[in-house]
Amino acid sequence: MPLPEDFMQELRAKSDIADIVSGYVSLRRSGRNLVGLCPFHGEKTPSFNVNPENGLFYCFGCGVGGDVITFVMKIENLDYMESVKLLAQRAGLAVPENSFDNSNAKLKMRILEANRAAARFFNSQLYTEGGQAALDYLHRRQLTDRTIRHFGLGYAPNSRYALCDHLKGMGFTEYELVQANLASKGANGRIYDRFYDRVMFPIIDLRGNVIAFGGRIMSDAKPKYLNTSDTLVFKKSANLFAMNFAKNSGENRLILAEGYMDVIALHQAGFTNAVATLGTSLTSEQAVLMKRYSPEVMISYDADEAGQKATARAIPLLRNAGLLVRVITVPNGKDPDEFIKSHGIQGPARFKQLIDNAGNDVEYKLNRVRQNVDTETSDGKIKYINEAVKILAEIDNRIEWEVYASKIGSEMSVDKYAIIQQIDKLKRQKNRAESSKNFRTLQTATSAKTDRINLQKADNLRAAKAEEALIAFIVNNPDSAKKVFERLPSDKLITDFNRKVYKCIQERIQEGKSAMMMDISEFFTPEENARIAYMLLNFTQQALTNDAVDEYIQVILRENDKKILNDVAQANENDIQDFLNKLKQQKK
Ligand code: CTP
Ligand code: MN
Repeated sequence: MPLPEDFMQELRAKSDIADIVSGYVSLRRSGRNLVGLCPFHGEKTPSFNVNPENGLFYCFGCGVGGDVITFVMKIENLDYMESVKLLAQRAGLAVPENSFDNSNAKLKMRILEANRAAARFFNSQLYTEGGQAALDYLHRRQLTDRTIRHFGLGYAPNSRYALCDHLKGMGFTEYELVQANLASKGANGRIYDRFYDRVMFPIIDLRGNVIAFGGRIMSDAKPKYLNTSDTLVFKKSANLFAMNFAKNSGENRLILAEGYMDVIALHQAGFTNAVATLGTSLTSEQAVLMKRYSPEVMISYDADEAGQKATARAIPLLRNAGLLVRVITVPNGKDPDEFIKSHGIQGPARFKQLIDNAGNDVEYKLNRVRQNVDTETSDGKIKYINEAVKILAEIDNRIEWEVYASKIGSEMSVDKYAIIQQIDKLKRQKNRAESSKNFRTLQTATSAKTDRINLQKADNLRAAKAEEALIAFIVNNPDSAKKVFERLPSDKLITDFNRKVYKCIQERIQEGKSAMMMDISEFFTPEENARIAYMLLNFTQQALTNDAVDEYIQVILRENDKKILNDVAQANENDIQDFLNKLKQQKK
C-alpha cells in the first residue's frame, strides 16, 4: 500500500479500537479484554473480544477478527482505503494524495456516479410520452407526485439501449456500466440495458448514495421485480430500503415491511420509520443495522402464510440483535399498502391503531398457537400449554416468564407454578445442548485439522503452537524481541503462514517501527488477519517467562533438525552428497 508510514502512525495513534468498536457494540471489561455481543453474527452470550493493548478484535463465535481497519471495513462494508479514509476523517487527518491508485475506490466512485445519473434518467422518463403509462401506473397505485419525487421513482424505457446510450454519452465506459450492473454483456459482446419497461425504485444508502435499483414490471408478467445483483457498492444482505429516511424519522422504533410498495405507502401515510429488505429474507446483518438506529422493530409483513412464516423467521434474528420486537397484524389477508388504501382518508389513522394494538413477539407467537387449537377440550388445552412452554423457554428473562405463566395459568385454569417448572426444565435442557454445541463450534473453529490459513499446522502442532506463542511474545515485547530474532532466524519457522507473520513483524521491529496488529494488517488478507488476531489474543493472556521463550525456541529448532534428518532419509545419493558439501562449507 502506498500510504506513508508517518501518516499510518498518526492514524493508529488516533484510532483507538475500544473507542471505535464502542460506537457499534456495547462492551464491558473482562480481564485484559473488552467483550460484547458480536455485531457480525447473532448471539446471546458475548464471544466478541476487543484487546485494546494490541489493537485487535476477535469473535470466538464466528471467527472474524483483525485490527481497527478490518473492523470498520466489515461493519461499514467498505474496502481498505475507504476505511482508512473514514478513520482519518474521524481523527481529523487528511489522507495523503495519490494513495488511492491501488484500490477499487475509483471504480466504486464511478459506479455510484453512474447509478445517480441512471436514477435521474429514469425519473425524467416518467415525464416523457414513453413514460406516461408508468406515471399513470404509479398514480393508479395512489402515489402522489411528492412521494414519487421523494423516493426518486422512475421508469426504465422499453428499449434495450436507452440507458446505455445515455450514460455512454455522459462518458461512462461499458466496463463501468457492467460493473454497476446497469448493463449486461450479450453473447455478441454488445452491452444492453439490464432494466427495461419497468417502474424503477432507487435504493439509497445511509450516506445518500444510489447503490442499486429494484424494477417492477407493470403487468402480471414474471419476474415481478428485478433487482441489482451485488456489486462493489451494493450488498443486498447488508442494506435496507428507505433506511436513509427512516433513520431520521425521530421515532424510537422501526417498522419492517416486506415490499418496496409497502414502505412507500407507509411513508406517504406518515410512517416514515418504515424499511424493507431488498428481495431476500432478513439477515442478522440487517438486524444489527436496525439496532444501531433504534431499540425496537415492529414487523409488518403480509398477512398471508408466506408473510407469517417470514415473521417467525425474523423474530429470533431481531431478538438476538438485542431488539425489542412487536408484530403488527394486518386484518383480512392484506398487506400494509392495501390496508391503508382500503380505508381511504382514514387509512393512516387505522394503521396507527394496528400499531397501538401490536403485541410483542411472545404474545404474537402464543396467539398463533392458540388460534390453531381448541382450548375448550382437555387435549387442546394440554397442547396449547406445551407449545406455550416451548415459546417461553426461548426467553431469558425470568420476570417475563412469570407474567406469561400467570396469564396462561389463569386462562387455562392451571397452576402457574406448574407451568414455570416446565419452562425451567426445558430451559435447562436447552442450555446444556447449547453449551456443548458452542464448545464444539469453538473447537472446530480453532482446531488444526480444519485450519485453512495455516495448512501445515495439523502436521506440526507443537512447533506451530510454539511459533504462535513467540509471535505474540515479540509483538508484546518488542524490546526483548532482538534476542529471539538472533536465536531464531525466520527461515527456521516450520509453518509457512507463521513464518510470513514472523518475518513481517521482524522486519518492522528491526527498522525501529511499531509492529502491532494495525501495523501489519495491510500485508494480510482478512482471513489471515482474523487468524493473527486470534493468535495474539490467545497467547497474550499469559505473560511468557524467559524460560518459556527458550523452551519454545528449542521446540522449533529441534523440529528443524528432525526435518533435516527426514529429508536426508528420503534423499538419493546425490542429494546426500550435496547436503554434506553444504555442511562442510558452513563449517569453513
Ligand atoms: N421481490 C423481489 N423479486 C420478486 C418478488 C418480490 O425482489 N420477484 C421483493 C421485492 O423487494 C418486493 C418484496 O419482495 O418489494 C415483496 O414482494 P411483494 O409483496 O410481491 O411486492 P410489493 O412490494 O408488495 O409489490 P406490489 O404491491 O406491487 O405487488
Ligand atoms: Mn404489495
